[in-house]
Amino acid sequence: SVKIAIVGAGSGYMPGVIRGLLHRAGDLAGAELAFHDVDAGHLGLMTRLATAMFSARGAGFTVTAHTELKPALDGASYVFTTFRPGGMAARHLDESIPLRHGVVGQETAGPGGFLMACRSVPVLLEIADLADPGAWIVNYTNPTNIVTDAVLRHRPGTRVIGLCDQHVGDTEMWAELLGLPFDGLEADWIGLNHATWAERVRLHGEPLDLPARLADLEIPGGGATPWRDPSRMAELAKALGFLPNSYAKYYFFHDEVVEELRAKGTTRAQDIMAMLPAYYESVAAEAAKPDPDPSRERGGGEHGEFAVDVICALHRDEGRRVIVNTRNNGAVSSLDDDAVVEVPAVVGRGGPVPLTMGPLPAPVRGLTQAIHAYERLAADAAATGDRRTALQALMAHPFIRGKHTAERILDEGLAAHRAHLPQF
Ligand code: G6P
Repeated sequence: SVKIAIVGAGSGYMPGVIRGLLHRAGDLAGAELAFHDVDAGHLGLMTRLATAMFSARGAGFTVTAHTELKPALDGASYVFTTFRPGGMAARHLDESIPLRHGVVGQETAGPGGFLMACRSVPVLLEIADLADPGAWIVNYTNPTNIVTDAVLRHRPGTRVIGLCDQHVGDTEMWAELLGLPFDGLEADWIGLNHATWAERVRLHGEPLDLPARLADLEIPGGGATPWRDPSRMAELAKALGFLPNSYAKYYFFHDEVVEELRAKGTTRAQDIMAMLPAYYESVAAEAAKPDPDPSRERGGGEHGEFAVDVICALHRDEGRRVIVNTRNNGAVSSLDDDAVVEVPAVVGRGGPVPLTMGPLPAPVRGLTQAIHAYERLAADAAATGDRRTALQALMAHPFIRGKHTAERILDEGLAAHRAHLPQF
């Protein structure tokens, strides 16, 4: 039977992963799930929840819990990584330090994501060293593209695939904006994680005339959620003539977002920290009395299901078409062959095979190439701890104008996160 290690199993996203596993219980029958977290309390809670849910639904999984990496990884064919070193307190620093210097911090796409990469990458490299040869690392740890690139180039031969379910929710938002059913809608999102673009959209396999539909689109009023900003996305898509990823907001409305974040006064990390105690209490209640009815939880069903589906696609050699982060190999002709790109790929036992997608749309080609240049430097800085490379990464970041701003964010960020940065 197969062993799947889950690193970061105390995460608030775990209830969604547990539901994802339940969904595919038949396909993964008999699997051992080795939960790992450095937070023994949250690890224990999620282990109780999983055990209760699996027994309530008669799923044939065994669950083991570990605070040490090695026993969790030993013998695992799949290592699902979904941790955040330093937790939400560290995310608050990622989001707030750049903002002090007039830059959106953003825990993935921004310089906040650079600081997170510096914490995440050493742990991923350690996992690559400790995992069984041939094991697949299925990575959700952010920033997923930088982390995946660092593992591929600094631990050559490691099998790693980077995940993000952003495109699922984005496609859902576009279905609503364009008045189309979500079911049967398929978009070719291509580019880099959180910097993807879709020129080709199909409904039940039939290509849509996107420029015409966008020309007719009325920009809706209404505010943004933490993840989506339909009004700005519609405005942007009308200008571009194709669909942008929701994170495009930070590139094309950067200065307005700085003002909004300053006016708001709290970071997203602080907002989440305020709700987590009640959330974990509700998880504890559910562990005591499992609810067989799949409801929404943090991360929702799609997040967990997406990851489990990718593991199944690898394990069962399904040849399923999924959007993943993997080596380009020519799929996106505007980016280097060895770049880690986000692209539709066919996933089977041999791993993801990216589908040929052609060039990036002209209006965002240069931007996406600039983001790639930043990401590459960020991956190298995070893997090696070279301070000059780290400074170059932030100087190359599209949000940051000026060496001194880059320097201040770097100095303050490295100092604030010292406990999690063994490489610097
Ligand atoms: C989306 C992104 C993820 C990100 C998450 C943050 O799902 O694709 O990369 O981590 O949002 O959500 P949160 O609720 O933690 O702000």
